[in-house]
Amino acid sequence: METAEIRRRWLDFFEAKGHTVVPSAPLVHDDPNLLFVNAGMVPFKPYFLGQETPAWQRATSVQKCVRTGDIKEVGKTSRHGTFFQMNGNFSFGDYFKKDAIAFAWELLTTSQDDGGYGLDKDRLWATVHENDDEAAQLWVELTDIPAERVVRRGNTDNYWSMGVPGPGGPCSEIFYDRGPEYGREGGPAVDEDRYMEIWNLVFMQYELSAVRSKEDFDVAGELPQRNVDTGMGLERIASVLQGVDNLYEIDEVYPVLAKAAEMTGRSYGAHSGQNAESSHPDDVRLRVVADHVRSALMLIGDGVTPGNEGRGYVLRRMLRRAVRSMRLLGYDEPCLPHLLPISMERMKASYPELETGFDRISQIAYAEELAFRRTLAQGTTILDDAVASTKAAGGTVLGGAQAFSLHDTYGFPIDLTLEMAQEQGLEVDREGFTRLMKEQRERAKADASAKKSGHANTEVWRDLRALGATDWRAYEELTSEAKVVGLVHEGARVEVLEPGQQGQIILDRTPFYAESGGQIADAGIITADGTHLKVLDVQRPVKGLVAHTVEVVTGPVRAGSDVLAEVDPEWRVQACQAHSGTHVVHAALRQVLGPSALQSGSYNKPGYLRLDFAWGQALSAETRSEIEEVANLAVREDLPVSASLMTIDQARKAGALALFGETYDEQVRVIEIGGPWSRELCGGTHVRHSSQVGALTMTGESSVGSGVRRLEAFVGMEALRYLAKERALVSELSSLVKTSPGELKERVSDMITRLREAEKELEGLRREQVLAAAGSLTDGAKDVGGTTFVGHHAAGAGADDVRRLVLDTRGKLGNDRPVVVAVTGDGGGRPVVVIGTNEAARAQGTKAGALVRVAAQVLGGGGGGKDDIAQGGGQDATKVAEALAAIEQSLGSGS
Ligand code: ALA
Repeated sequence: METAEIRRRWLDFFEAKGHTVVPSAPLVHDDPNLLFVNAGMVPFKPYFLGQETPAWQRATSVQKCVRTGDIKEVGKTSRHGTFFQMNGNFSFGDYFKKDAIAFAWELLTTSQDDGGYGLDKDRLWATVHENDDEAAQLWVELTDIPAERVVRRGNTDNYWSMGVPGPGGPCSEIFYDRGPEYGREGGPAVDEDRYMEIWNLVFMQYELSAVRSKEDFDVAGELPQRNVDTGMGLERIASVLQGVDNLYEIDEVYPVLAKAAEMTGRSYGAHSGQNAESSHPDDVRLRVVADHVRSALMLIGDGVTPGNEGRGYVLRRMLRRAVRSMRLLGYDEPCLPHLLPISMERMKASYPELETGFDRISQIAYAEELAFRRTLAQGTTILDDAVASTKAAGGTVLGGAQAFSLHDTYGFPIDLTLEMAQEQGLEVDREGFTRLMKEQRERAKADASAKKSGHANTEVWRDLRALGATDWRAYEELTSEAKVVGLVHEGARVEVLEPGQQGQIILDRTPFYAESGGQIADAGIITADGTHLKVLDVQRPVKGLVAHTVEVVTGPVRAGSDVLAEVDPEWRVQACQAHSGTHVVHAALRQVLGPSALQSGSYNKPGYLRLDFAWGQALSAETRSEIEEVANLAVREDLPVSASLMTIDQARKAGALALFGETYDEQVRVIEIGGPWSRELCGGTHVRHSSQVGALTMTGESSVGSGVRRLEAFVGMEALRYLAKERALVSELSSLVKTSPGELKERVSDMITRLREAEKELEGLRREQVLAAAGSLTDGAKDVGGTTFVGHHAAGAGADDVRRLVLDTRGKLGNDRPVVVAVTGDGGGRPVVVIGTNEAARAQGTKAGALVRVAAQVLGGGGGGKDDIAQGGGQDATKVAEALAAIEQSLGSGS
């Protein structure tokens, strides 16, 4: 049975049991404790905790998940994949253990002809929490599993939590016996490879306030209601129903593996036995490729771009591991263009947006592969240098600091450093490397925990939210009469804020825009008799609650008092210009570059906007002007700007662009500029007609990470001010070079040409001067142990001039006696030395090449050449006199 069909049956089954089918949330969710959605229940967390009321009591979904904790295990065992899909059915205070168990049994054992999964009843086992008599009894009563196949286990196996504070509870897991060829008899407690967990039913009843490990956590109390959260790994059940060994071999994954095997000429599974546990390295690498390519596809699909921290780093690491595994398998060319399309083809049945967005997705992935190939090339050079200098110093071990810096600065993987150093006969100081890595991890951990304590007071916000949602009027009015619902100072509720203090104020109603969707918060004031607060920032710490960070200018301000909240109208006008301007630029960008140019982030504030978008290369000056022109034409056309509410489905159908990293409610707001010309999901404030944006001036286009470009622009009056400043600059420059602005360009380019000519002339004169000195060079000749020696430093001369001086002087000195001429120069700040010998000198065994090495050593470099003429260089130009002295000494000592 294909994976897409298993998914379909799941949703159909639970829909028929009264569950609402909820689409998968994006992998990136706004939970500060999670990098990625890692379980089906994550989007429903506020419902379990009783913070929000869902529109339904039963829901079902197939949720995209990524877990990266075990990334090193990928491919080595049959159970670890980074991306997977979790089938889930959920009850929010509706049914509990009995129905959860009965539903699971029915779906698993109903025959395939009747729409179920048709598993053999005799192969199913169940586990329950050691204290859960009720669940143990229900399994025996409601199903055909006999009591001896219901196993009791402790917290480690049968208590589920998110691994971070949140909801949790005892759970009951269902296992499938894959048969004796997979391991020992005796049930899940004996062998979890043979008995594979396929479904986890969590009886979610408690709120956990701290989770230190699977056994060690603090229960804060009971949840407001008893819930059910279940999770079935779609890939696992697919491996069972498709009769394959592991998740890398199911229909959605295997074609990538097969292609990788074909490209590298390896045959998968040729070396090892039945299961993944004792795999040959080739097989592990092929699985890594298949897993990581799919995960990267899904992550980029959900708006993640490669970067150096957080989510971006996880993505980068997966792409690099995939590319690197292919190299280790012997494939050196760019590989993603062959693999990613195959993964997309397999996944598009369930996620059609992967196909429509594939231009964008593939551009990002391919750009990252190219960047990594450059890193490898660059790292290889640096590694070669490090190896050479280690060897030159007589060492056999490459320093830990060098390996760490290769890893940290150049992204050069340690396993590659190890391998390449070994090829050159060196070991690597792994201990030093590991210590530095550990120090870095500790720094990162300290950062992360500092960040977390920032959310420590969500309790405060939740309590305030419990008093009611803020009546948010940002779209309707700029001034609201309001009551102070609560005050917060340094993270704690207070009754009063005194003059000079900063804190947060919650009002029952507010006209202030809270920062979101790239638009920064409104500025303004909150006043009452004798009270004046300056609004510094406005945020929504929890859904439905608007918190204003204020400074009390005059006061105090007390909870319960009446105030007037006023947005600065000028600020708001400009904020609207900037946000509508962002949409205009985005639409213009897509009109010029095509629909694969999709915004991946934006920021706007009065007068300024910036927009990041996925694009593989820099924009040419013409393209930039074209985008600017299309944007300004749209402004001039005075297109109507409208906002309307609709369901997310309607919005998608209308082609509205939903951007990543945002979470959307059932009802979404769609902003249109000129109807379909620009249609985006957006909660920001906007102008009413595009002409109100005023002018748009693009000021820059730059790269922000691989495959992502950034456009910046000034809007409205700021755009005019920017242009006025440039005009002033042009006029100052014109008067400086005494011409009119119209002739400035020609004038400056004339001046540059003249300057270049003058420099050339100067250079010629200098050279003549150097050569003129040749005549007098012979005057400085002295006798060194029977050889005529000339040693001279030609200040400012480059290698060519120095060589000419040597040849010239040597010629003048004839061949009657042995002659050695040594000249140094320091043109361009780098020392150079050239040495010439005549025939008589060579006849007595004096060699220019040998003498040059003596000099170059003093200069901190190297050199060589023939017996009659040789050249060398170095680093330190202050040592030229010393170098000449060394030559003389070496001549004198007869070498
Ligand atoms: N939330 C539960 C899990 O992830 C079902 O296993």
